[in-house]
Amino acid sequence: MNAPPELTIVIPTFNERDNIAPLLDRLRRCLGGVTWCAIFVDDNSPDGTAETVKKLARDDPRVSCLRRLRRRGLAGAVIEGVLASASPFVAVMDADLQHDETLLPRMLKALQAGEGDLAIGVRRLSREAPIAGLSSIRQAGSQLANHLARRVLKTSVSDPVSGFFMARRDLIDQVAPSLSVEGFKVLFDIIASQPTPPRIVEFPYDFAERQAGASKMDARVILEYLGLIVTKLTGNRLPPRFLMFAMVGLSGLGVHMAVLYAGRALGISFLPAQILAAVTAMTSNFLINNQITYRDRRLRGLKVLVGYLRFCALCALGLIANIAVANLVHEHTPWWWLAGASGAVAGSVWNYVSTAVAVW
Ligand code: GDD
Ligand code: MN
Repeated sequence: MNAPPELTIVIPTFNERDNIAPLLDRLRRCLGGVTWCAIFVDDNSPDGTAETVKKLARDDPRVSCLRRLRRRGLAGAVIEGVLASASPFVAVMDADLQHDETLLPRMLKALQAGEGDLAIGVRRLSREAPIAGLSSIRQAGSQLANHLARRVLKTSVSDPVSGFFMARRDLIDQVAPSLSVEGFKVLFDIIASQPTPPRIVEFPYDFAERQAGASKMDARVILEYLGLIVTKLTGNRLPPRFLMFAMVGLSGLGVHMAVLYAGRALGISFLPAQILAAVTAMTSNFLINNQITYRDRRLRGLKVLVGYLRFCALCALGLIANIAVANLVHEHTPWWWLAGASGAVAGSVWNYVSTAVAVW
């Protein structure tokens, strides 16, 4: 019987077909002395990445593919890959050859020797020379993200948003139920969720240029990250989805005021303009939430219409809750602003909870 693997490499993929074979070649080359296996976690990529992995797996039993359906998300993919593994150590690595795989044996040695619980591949960011794999905007963004993360984590980890790391498997297994499945910053989340601060060993490397395909980082990923920071700052009391929902609600206020203003400018009298503004804001809130907040459960086709009608009905109830709470607080305190804010919070919480149950 073959020795059970000491190291599992979890590789999340979305449209990485042409990077799989070169990546596996590199892994075989650098992991000579190690018993390892690789789990690709693919979110049903339209380019056929999963098929490509499975074809290659027929020639190498160390390789396997977890194909997820109707789900998208780097963090969730990483977590499921780790949960599917049984080896004492797990590494997480991108498929696009931007990470320096030759660090893997050294990371493993350090962890096996007990030098730390977590080994992190640290992108060299603050150098004079430009970085091959990052535009100058991305580099500045990464530095800002790291700065925020360090403030929240209160550690000196230099790259807590790195996508390249290795850990004792139990370290991640333990906290898996409380990790966010959204967004890119799973390492940050893993560190922030530990009951006691993990001992970290860093491995600096040069972030290489992506080989085939394109990055999946976008505005949504950045918003989700900011949401995660706030969630951690509030001690996990505010789920990121609620924060996203609340931010969409705020954008609705902007839409409302813009439509009201335009309506008034066009000579529409106040009441019809106010009604038009409210309906437009509710519609845009619904559409943005369906697009972003509930991206993973997005309604399509006829269900959009049904969902929209339910959303409107529930938000109307939310408005009643808002007014009732505001009125109550207003009767018992001298502060109008506290009454107004309490009403708004009660309405948002109602809208969030009820639509989470009955719409998405
Ligand atoms: N399964 C799955 N599902 N995989 C995904 C998804 C998804 O929704 N989104 C991205 N991936 C895979 C990609 O196919 C790639 O293998 C890896 O995750 C990283 O995605 P990229 O889109 O290449 O990310 P990047 O290069 O822009 O970002 C890198 O740097 C960030 C720090 O700035 C990554 O290493 C991030 O993890 C890291 O936080
Ligand atoms: Mn990349």
